[in-house]
Amino acid sequence: MAEAVRFLLGREPRALRGVDPNLTVLNYLREVERRTGTKEGCAEGDCGACTVVLAELDGERLRYRAINACILFAPQLDGRQLITVEHLRGQGGALHPVQQAMVECHGSQCGFCTPGFVMSLFALYHEDRAPGRQRILDALAGNLCRCTGYRPIVDAARRMYELGDGDRFSEREAETVAQLKALDRGERLAFAHGNKRYFAPRRIEDLAALCEQFPDACLLAGGTDVGLWVTKQHRDLDTLIYVGAVEELRRLKTTETHLEIGAAVTYSDAMAALGERWADLGELIRRLGSVQIRNAGTIGGNIANGSPIGDTMPALIALGAELVLRRGAAQRTLPLENFYLDYRKTALEPGELVERILVLLPRPSGQFRCYKISKRFDQDISALLGAFHLELDRGRVAQIRIAFGGMAAVPKRARACEQALLGRPWTAATVARGRAALARELAPISDMRAGAAYRLLAAQNLLTKLHLETSAPAVATRVLELEVSDG
Ligand SMILES: Cc1cc2nc3c(=O)[nH]c(=O)nc-3n(C[C@H](O)[C@H](O)[C@H](O)COP(=O)(O)OP(=O)(O)OC[C@H]3O[C@@H](n4cnc5c(N)ncnc54)[C@H](O)[C@@H]3O)c2cc1C
Ligand code: FES
Ligand code: FES
Repeated sequence: MAEAVRFLLGREPRALRGVDPNLTVLNYLREVERRTGTKEGCAEGDCGACTVVLAELDGERLRYRAINACILFAPQLDGRQLITVEHLRGQGGALHPVQQAMVECHGSQCGFCTPGFVMSLFALYHEDRAPGRQRILDALAGNLCRCTGYRPIVDAARRMYELGDGDRFSEREAETVAQLKALDRGERLAFAHGNKRYFAPRRIEDLAALCEQFPDACLLAGGTDVGLWVTKQHRDLDTLIYVGAVEELRRLKTTETHLEIGAAVTYSDAMAALGERWADLGELIRRLGSVQIRNAGTIGGNIANGSPIGDTMPALIALGAELVLRRGAAQRTLPLENFYLDYRKTALEPGELVERILVLLPRPSGQFRCYKISKRFDQDISALLGAFHLELDRGRVAQIRIAFGGMAAVPKRARACEQALLGRPWTAATVARGRAALARELAPISDMRAGAAYRLLAAQNLLTKLHLETSAPAVATRVLELEVSDG
């Protein structure tokens, strides 16, 4: 129980022995390393001032990911390379192309947000050599600037590619890969700090055994919820079991019937596989948090967290998804809609974990739509979310599954509405029946995001929108493609 957390800080190997598992990477950088280039704005993953980049092994290559240091725990660095804004300047103080572009395009005024923007752009520089405007906007959506305005920063995102094709980090890739391989422990990381313990198992059997041994432990995936319990609620988490190092949980697999998503697959890793099968689900994930949040947060964490306004659950319920739960060697399968018992209360037994999510592959006759309603387009929590899976047969509703987020204490399937539509012609009159059923079965609350009356009306309108989009001739109901052009 005394292993050190081993990682690279830039090129320098670090071994943290007995570190507090609740120490965030941001506090580690600023208070232990005295590297104060990385800033704290919100300490809850919203502003991007703390953005750093993690490089991880991807076969013989490196994958660079922007991440919020404020809600990442220091032990999660194990086996990775941490790159901060201080690492970007070259010999003699030469600016990195990203920094040079920010200077030339006047991308900074007070400068507080600038290290975060620079690191988001640095990750983009390595991930994509020719990003379009939408890709650039997505890469920057998790960084807030209150004085410069975003246009010069978007200009810098284009200019940086004109200032160099690659950088020192690319030149040294093979060397860094070798360094990271040497750090790979191949077995669980376990250590204690006072009465706190941290485990990062590598195999599912080991994880399951630890969960049984410590049924009160906090499972940690991306930490985009758990991190805030420490930074905002000032909780001390005694036993943390990190699920993100378990290979089996990070796998996406397609069988003949299902897409199987390991519980620790991040949003970023799932986005393409989901988006190519269900376009609206890809779009939903693109709007979930920011790049930094999607690089950390997992679908399993979203499901297990059980928030009534979590985004993926209504969509997955509409798609008929099931969960594989595991306790020790025993597995059970549960429809996702039965997983939520009450407000933030799930069917998980003590010592049990979410292992996989099974989503039925699309059928040619099925049409899936989901609509997120939030005040801000990017990086905002839903006021409500409606998800619909519809199958028509000769103009009649042959099958339909409808689920909403933000309309009850749990993500809720709208069964009365489904019954009101089933077997009927897919017409405005049938939709009116469905709207009436929604009014009977949904009892939304009023809170800071939306009033109850607004929520109900918006939910009913989403049903109408579904009808407009799926009946002939289909009506264009989406204007966003018009707003963001590549010009
Ligand atoms: C800035 C910001 C923006 C956000 N935007 C959105 C948004 O737009 N939409 C949205 O839905 N959410 C949003 N979130 C919430 C958050 O990103 C999600 O809930 C996320 O999916 C949680 O996943 P995680 O991997 O980070 O989980 P963690 O925070 O690590 O864990 C969350 C919970 O799940 C449990 N858990 C994790 N893995 C397992 C497992 N395998 N088995 C059992 N229990 C497990 C943990 O113990 C914990 O209780 C946002 C959060 C932040 C900070
Ligand atoms: S300090 Fe705001 S996202 Fe981390
Ligand atoms: S330059 Fe001041 S916050 Fe962005």
